Amino acid sequence: MSLRYQRLYVNIDHVATVRQARRSPEPDPVAAARLCEQAGADGITAHLREDRRHIQDDDIRRLAAEITTVLNFECAATDEMLALAEALRPAAVTIVPERREEVTTEGGLDVVRAEPQLRDAIARLRRAGVRTSLFIDAEANAVRQSHALGADAIELHTGPYAHAPADPRTLRALADAAALGASLGMAVHAGHGLSVQNVGPVAAIPEIEELNIGHAIVGRAIFVGMVEAVREIRRAMDDAREADRF
Ligand code: PXP
Repeated sequence: MSLRYQRLYVNIDHVATVRQARRSPEPDPVAAARLCEQAGADGITAHLREDRRHIQDDDIRRLAAEITTVLNFECAATDEMLALAEALRPAAVTIVPERREEVTTEGGLDVVRAEPQLRDAIARLRRAGVRTSLFIDAEANAVRQSHALGADAIELHTGPYAHAPADPRTLRALADAAALGASLGMAVHAGHGLSVQNVGPVAAIPEIEELNIGHAIVGRAIFVGMVEAVREIRRAMDDAREADRF
C-alpha cells in the first residue's frame, strides 16, 4: 500500500516579485496560479505582506475570485489581514510571523508570546468559516501550544531541514512534530525551502498531508515553464510516497 495522497499547494508570491520589480502588470500571479492548477496543484498559497513587497491586495481578491482550486491566504495575525480574510473567506489562512527587515519568513510563530493574539485570530477566522493553520518550528512545545490554541492545522517550518538536509536531526524533528500534531487531531502541513532535490524525505513523512512550495517552483519555471516546474515537484512528491511503501 502506498501512502495517502499528499496535496501540493503552490506559493505564487515570487511571480509578483518579478512584476513588482517594474511595477508593471506582468507577470500576473493569477495567470500563473491558473497554470499551476492546470499542472495539478491542489491549491494556491499567497502571502500578503504588510510591506506589500510582492503580492498586492488586489491579487488576493482576484485569486479568491478566479482560481478553481482553493486559496491558502498567508498573513500575519494583524487586524488588517484578519479583516480581509473575513471579507474574502478563503478556504484557509496560514498565520505566519512577519518582520519587515527579513528577506523571507525566517522562523515559526512564537506561539507562547503571541498567545492572546493567536487565540483571538483563530476564533475570528473560525467564526468566518475559515480553517486556520499556524506556521511553527518543528518542536513539541509549539505543536502542543498550537493545539491548545485551537488551530485546525500546523505548517511545520522545513527551512532548517532545507539548509541542512544531511543532518538527520532536521528530518527527525519534522517527523516527530508531524506525528505529534496528527496524534492531537490537527492536520499537518509543511513548507519553506523545498525543491525537487530535497522534497523526497519530507514528502515521505506519512502524517504530512500538504506541502507549500514557492520559490523553487517559480525559479525553475523561468527555465522550463510553470506547468513543467509544478509537474516536476509533483512527480518528486509522488515518487517519494510511492517508494515509501508499508
Ligand atoms: N510556507 C510558508 C509559511 C512560507 O512563509 C513560505 C515562504 O513564503 C513557504 C511555505 C514557501 O517557501 P518557499 O518559497 O521557500 O518554497
